[in-house]
Amino acid sequence: MRRRDLLAAGAALAVSGPLAAAPQPASLAAIARKSGRRFGSTMGGANFADPAYRALNAAQCGLIVPESEMKWVATRPDAKTFDFRAADAIVAWAKANGLGVRGHTLLWHYERWFPKWLVEHDFGTDPHKEAERLLAEHVRTVATRYASAVDSFDVVNEAIDPDTGLLRETALSRPLGGAEATIDLAFHTARQAAPHAQLVYNDFMSWTADDGKHRDAVLRLLEGMKKRGTPVDALGVQSHLGSKYSEAPTGLGNIDERAWRQFLDAVTGMGLDLLVTEMDVHDNPLPGAIGPRDQAVAAHVRAYLDLMLSYPQCRTVMCWGLSDKYSWLNAFRPRADGLPKRPLPYDAEFRPKPFRDAIAGALQAHPVLRG
Ligand code: XIL
Repeated sequence: MRRRDLLAAGAALAVSGPLAAAPQPASLAAIARKSGRRFGSTMGGANFADPAYRALNAAQCGLIVPESEMKWVATRPDAKTFDFRAADAIVAWAKANGLGVRGHTLLWHYERWFPKWLVEHDFGTDPHKEAERLLAEHVRTVATRYASAVDSFDVVNEAIDPDTGLLRETALSRPLGGAEATIDLAFHTARQAAPHAQLVYNDFMSWTADDGKHRDAVLRLLEGMKKRGTPVDALGVQSHLGSKYSEAPTGLGNIDERAWRQFLDAVTGMGLDLLVTEMDVHDNPLPGAIGPRDQAVAAHVRAYLDLMLSYPQCRTVMCWGLSDKYSWLNAFRPRADGLPKRPLPYDAEFRPKPFRDAIAGALQAHPVLRG
């Protein structure tokens, strides 16, 4: 908090007296706004159907991103049809509550997450033309539909195999002439359809020492895109923090801050902005006791955001869910001791955790300096 705000808060307390209602702590959305940034989270499926959870999101977020509802698996029952009911519902709710919306994702360039029909699609006698038509039509249709509601799209998600550092190829990219041509087509089409939106490449390269291959590959991809004139505006840093390995001897990961800064310097050096798009913490290697576990997670988040928010190019911070009740990580790589994970800023009863304080503290400590 700045000195002026501290004085104002003190003055307000002095006049309110003991009978006045306890002042509501500022929302993460308000704290982020004051920092010159936006804070938000993802919603979708069962969690979007929970009225109490919707209220928590409306209270804390300035920005929402549909968890899966804009992906091909949700919008494309087959090669000819579009189904926007689920995505429309989230966008309408966000607008009704005065929240911004991010779009995720026009192409998850990872065959594992393709709808089955796309993997098995018959590209006919001119496969190149059909692949081009299918991708361009998809990106144009989705981006056009949401161009007025969404000001930032994850155009392409996870195009790199982190183990090899090579671009993935998919049932769509092979006939299209390879991953680069596919990525370029997605970005050019998105730019045409939503000319005012920020266009983002989104991936999960991280600050751990063992992730160098992934970081280098992302840099090569972005450099290539810039060289070819592909309209990319920003890198989405997913920020699924912590180690996925339960047995990791190094707690939440062996962090290489220097390598991470070099990476972020290179990205911003290309003129790209940064977003934290999907923050949560795999707490697998931490001991089960809740108090110390939550403290360790919060300290990790604080250190991470202190670094990320030292970049004025990073003006968006989003968690992949607000409450432990609804984290996707509950179903993904469970803890060895079988205990529920605690990856998010609010617990399963929607009570704030030290993770929430870590976000608030980091935002307050690193305002974007204007002018
Ligand atoms: C996840 C959703 O949270 C799950 O509900 C779904 O089953 C799979 O996708 N990186 C991404 C997100 O970019 O789209 C993923 O979301 C989490 C990892």
